[in-house]
Order: sequence, then structure tokens, then C-alpha cells
Amino acid sequence: MLSSKEIRSQFIEFFQAREHSFVHSSAVVPQNDPTLLFANAGMNQFKSIFLGLKDADVPRAVNSQKCIRAGGKHNDLEEVGKDGYHHTFFEMLGNWSFGDYYKKEAITWAWELLTAKWGLPKALLYATVHESDHEAHALWQECTDIPPSHIEYHGDKDNFWEMGDTGPCGPCSEIHIDRGIEHCNKHGVAGHVCGVNGDCDRFIELWNLVFIQYNREENRDLTPLKNRFVDTGAGLERITQVLQDKSSNYETDLFMPIIDKISELSKLPYTQESGMSHRVIADHIRCLCFALADGGFPSNEGRGYVLRRILRRASRHGRLLGFAEPFLHGLVDTVVSIMGHHFEELRGKESYIKMVIKAEEDRFNKTLDTGLQKFDEICLKLDGNLIGGKDAFMLYDTYGFPLDLTMMLAEEKGFKIDHRGFEEEMEAQRERARKASKFGGSHTQDDWIELRPALPTLFTGYEKSADTAYIQRL
Ligand code: SER
Repeated sequence: MLSSKEIRSQFIEFFQAREHSFVHSSAVVPQNDPTLLFANAGMNQFKSIFLGLKDADVPRAVNSQKCIRAGGKHNDLEEVGKDGYHHTFFEMLGNWSFGDYYKKEAITWAWELLTAKWGLPKALLYATVHESDHEAHALWQECTDIPPSHIEYHGDKDNFWEMGDTGPCGPCSEIHIDRGIEHCNKHGVAGHVCGVNGDCDRFIELWNLVFIQYNREENRDLTPLKNRFVDTGAGLERITQVLQDKSSNYETDLFMPIIDKISELSKLPYTQESGMSHRVIADHIRCLCFALADGGFPSNEGRGYVLRRILRRASRHGRLLGFAEPFLHGLVDTVVSIMGHHFEELRGKESYIKMVIKAEEDRFNKTLDTGLQKFDEICLKLDGNLIGGKDAFMLYDTYGFPLDLTMMLAEEKGFKIDHRGFEEEMEAQRERARKASKFGGSHTQDDWIELRPALPTLFTGYEKSADTAYIQRL
């Protein structure tokens, strides 16, 4: 059985043998792109080449990009743990043409690697193309021996790839694999038919070949780019799942050592049925290790807040496994031992990462205790099953509960949250913060909050050693 390490290097070597230069992954915390929360695709670091703002150093490249999809257009955070293939952090293997080869080579090589090198059964593979892309449809027929009935046209939703609201984009051709009826999780549901881009787990996408040729402008127009590019992305976790013949990404050697460590520390063995918390923690700790190594830091806004939410979600799931004390830092060495040989940036940063994670989890544990008490009080007083926006906001603002944590707790009790009410409270608070700000738009909760007495204060220091006073935001 191929290890994930071998799969990654075979992918890279396959394209190196076809004149691609290896380019190391860019940092997962983008350095110069304010439109992007985290690196969410291999193409991020090549964006300015696609836009014609910079010349490519090489005509062809191959890479394995660290990606985080936990905010913005591609956000999978809420799904993580529920199934075997959504992740906040994952690795995207990709080959690239910067105005050099195009659809023909991209299709031919993807097919060759999957079938000739890795031996995947041709009868189980499917290719999709954009409904307008007859050229790609014809190339699949001419350049590969895929069964012709396995080439399907699909619409924009599945076969037009965009990185964000703006930026380089284009039609794409995806390769999917049929994992067999036993992977269908909708079997027997009335009206369900398994299919590519369907709603069950039987067919999974392995590789996306994007033919970049437009830029999406802010007004939603598509402007043709000067050149045509190939941007492909194959999730290492999924390819590994298939090549290691596992039924979930979590059972591969990319995750299993972390899951084993969680089982060892919690003394609760992992099973697919009861293992959601194991999966969430294993996913989130990878994400945190890479984000911190690349300069991210948990905080109350932007990227930092996403990291804080991820850490808190992992920590909460730790509670469900019985961890009363911070434990996440105890998984860092395992992550580095799996990933550190390829991503050297992790090595040497172990103690820093552990320190940040432990301090943040410690802090969260303290608020969690008081917040949980408050949450229980709210639930006791509830009339119906909807937790009001005001209450959810109070848990967020005063007790540091990210909304998805409150959602998770509510779900455990069969309750729902008034999202709109929460958003209204949030907006009102933003408005207050804007008014209070003396520093203009960049002012955030983290920077500085000025307070003033809400009621006149009386000096009682001669009679009392402690007293109450009332303050409010300026
Ligand atoms: N940009 C495409 C994706 O992220 C292919 O790399 O799926």
C-alpha cells in the first residue's frame, strides 16, 4: 500500500518528469492578498501571473499547496467531522501551465497518472466538463480510453471554478470515482439516485482541472485574460483514501496517528459511528499547527477569529471526550511527525505552537465553564426551541462563545438559534464600535476600547475594600 508520503512525491515526480518545476506551497496565511482570508487553493500564489501582472519564472509548475477552507467563498468548517471528507485544512496537489500547454495535456496526464501509474480501474472513473466546453468533451474521447458514457456535461455550479468573489477563473473538468454502492449514505431514501455531483458519498471528486481564461471583476463581469492557463487541484487526502482503499480520509495515514493519539489520551477508541469528536479534533489540530507556523494567531477578528473558532470547536469536542484540561497541544508532535518531512516550516516551531495552543485553550476552558452555566440558564428559561439572537449574542460577546459553538450546544439539546437576530445584534455592536472609534475603519475590538462611567461614581475606599461601579463604552 502506498503511503501518503509516497503519493505526494509520486505526483510531484510524475510532473517533474514532464518538465514541471517544483514550487513549494505558499504560506497558508496569505502575505499580500487582502481579498483572501487564508490560502484556499493552489492558484493563490500564482494569481498575479494569471492576471498578467507578473511573468512566470517557469512555464510549468507542480506543487502541493496547504489550504484552509474555513471562511469566505470556500468554507467547510461546519461540515467537518460529520462525514469522512470535509476538512478545514487540506493539501492540494496541482500541476500548472502558465500560457504553455492547455486542455489536451492536462486531461491526458491526469488520466495517465490515475490509471497507468496508480492503477485505478477505468470503469470506475467519470469525467465532467462544463456544459459549454465541447472541446474538453471531445478531448476526453480522443486522448483517453475512458468509457464514453462516463463523460458528462454539468453546469456552472460544478464545472466553473472561481477562487473568490473576484479573480482568475474558468470552466473546469473534474474526475470522479465511483466508490461502490456500499458508500452510498442515502441508500433506500425515496427518490435518491446515486450519481456524479449527486447528494450521496458514493461518487467522490478526485481531481479538478481548471482552464483559467477569465478574470471575475467586482461588477461580476468576466474579462478574458491575455493568456490561457491550466490550474489543477487534487486533494491529497481523498487520493490517499482511494489508493489506500479506506472508507474515509480520516482512516488514512494522514490522520490515523493523530486519531490514535486522541484515543490514547482520552482512553476512548475511535469508531466511524461514534468518532465525530475524534475527527473534528484531528482535522482542527492540523489546521492550527499550519496556521500558527505560518504566522496566524488566535484573536477576535478576521483570520485570528477563524483560528479561535477552530480551536474552540476542537476544545469543545475534547470536552465531549472527557478532557477537562487543555489537551490539544499534546497532539502537535504527532502532526509534525506526519507532515514535517515535506513541510519543513513546521519543524523547529513545535514548542511555540504548543505554547500558543495551550494558552488559548486554557483561556477558553475558563470562559467555557461560566458560559456553559449561562447557556444552561438560557435553555431552562426557553419557551419553545429557539434561542434568541440576543442571548446567542450575549454568549458571544460576554462569554466568548463563537456562534457555531452555541449552535453545537443547542443542537445537542435539539434547539435552534435565531441567526438573523444574532446578526442584527452583531451589526448593532459593529455600529457602536464604529461610532466609538477615534481611529477610523481599522479599529477593531482587539485594539482599544475606551470606557467611561455609566453612572457617577462615589469614592467608598475608606469604608469598603471592594465595590461596584457601572461603566460603558465611550
Ligand atoms: N483551483 C482549483 C480548485 O481549487 C483546482 O486547483 O479546485
